[in-house]
Amino acid sequence: MDDELRQLAEEATAAIVQATDEKQLEAVRVKYLGRKGLLRQLQQGMKDVPAEDKPRVGKLMNEVSEQLKAVFAQRQEELAAGEPALRVDTESVDVTLPGRNVRIGKRHPLLAALDHMIEIFLGLGFSVVEGPEVENYYYSFEALNYPDYHPAMDEQATFYVSDDVLLRSQTSTVQIRAMEQTQPPVRIIVPGRCFRRDTVDATHCHTFYQLEGLLVDEGVTFADLKGTLEAFATGMFGEKCHMRFRPDFFPFTEPSAEIALTCILCGGEGCRVCSQTGWVEVGGSGMVDPNVLEKVGYDSERYTGFAFGMGVERLAMLMHGIDDIRLFYSGDMRFLKQF
Ligand code: DAH
Repeated sequence: MDDELRQLAEEATAAIVQATDEKQLEAVRVKYLGRKGLLRQLQQGMKDVPAEDKPRVGKLMNEVSEQLKAVFAQRQEELAAGEPALRVDTESVDVTLPGRNVRIGKRHPLLAALDHMIEIFLGLGFSVVEGPEVENYYYSFEALNYPDYHPAMDEQATFYVSDDVLLRSQTSTVQIRAMEQTQPPVRIIVPGRCFRRDTVDATHCHTFYQLEGLLVDEGVTFADLKGTLEAFATGMFGEKCHMRFRPDFFPFTEPSAEIALTCILCGGEGCRVCSQTGWVEVGGSGMVDPNVLEKVGYDSERYTGFAFGMGVERLAMLMHGIDDIRLFYSGDMRFLKQF
């Protein structure tokens, strides 16, 4: 009986392991473990086993039965998961197929232009400072020498959070914050987002970028401002691009000047973008008003400075010949893919 059991265990194990699909496995199960299977037949032979051997043979029989069931379950699991060899066939990769292109993101044209501007000023020895977009009245107007209710505030109409808290309409606010933190010499640029209550059209948006500059030291003159901006114009658009000053007014500079650059789309000949003038206005500038220096505790008899602020969108539009500011914010991939 013992031998018969062992032989059955061996045979059944081999048959289970060799079954190559679930159907075969089921046939093996019926043959060995089924109700009329070979193991059952041996069990029925127990009645002929001598009484003293019964406990031992019975135990062996249970062991064989348990073992076969375990082997069976394991094989069943394996077949359900797929034979390793079969899986290689169905899951393998055809390395000769052409690859799928990974779409790589790029800098947004607006921020790429801003980076370009920043690099030029870094090369001239300026360092980058940032300030809050949500500002209070003091940094936005009072410290910048705007008298209350001055008409110059009209062009800075912005969004108010409360009477005192607003979204900054110009990066000039950071001039004050930066000067409060250090003593001269100061040589900074401030890139940042600004907001205004402007009606959106081809050249205006409620949200836009400026690049501010501020330099304060002993003996700084208007010629330094002019030379710095001329160097910027050349760095940005090449030798053919020049800078033009015209008188302007800002409360925080005296004298003040509008900055215009040669229209690079027509090379200064005159076109639709520059309204046939050959020049494109890109920002404002001037010598820092002594009142502003005194506000932050600088000695205005000892120190002088210049400042400027430029519209980043305007420069990016010139750079790429873009005629509508709204394209920057449209999220339109057909536009963005061109850069
Ligand atoms: N903040 C001014 C504006 O947004 C531009 C400007 C003018 C900035 C003169 C300056 C400056 O730093 O000196 O209209």
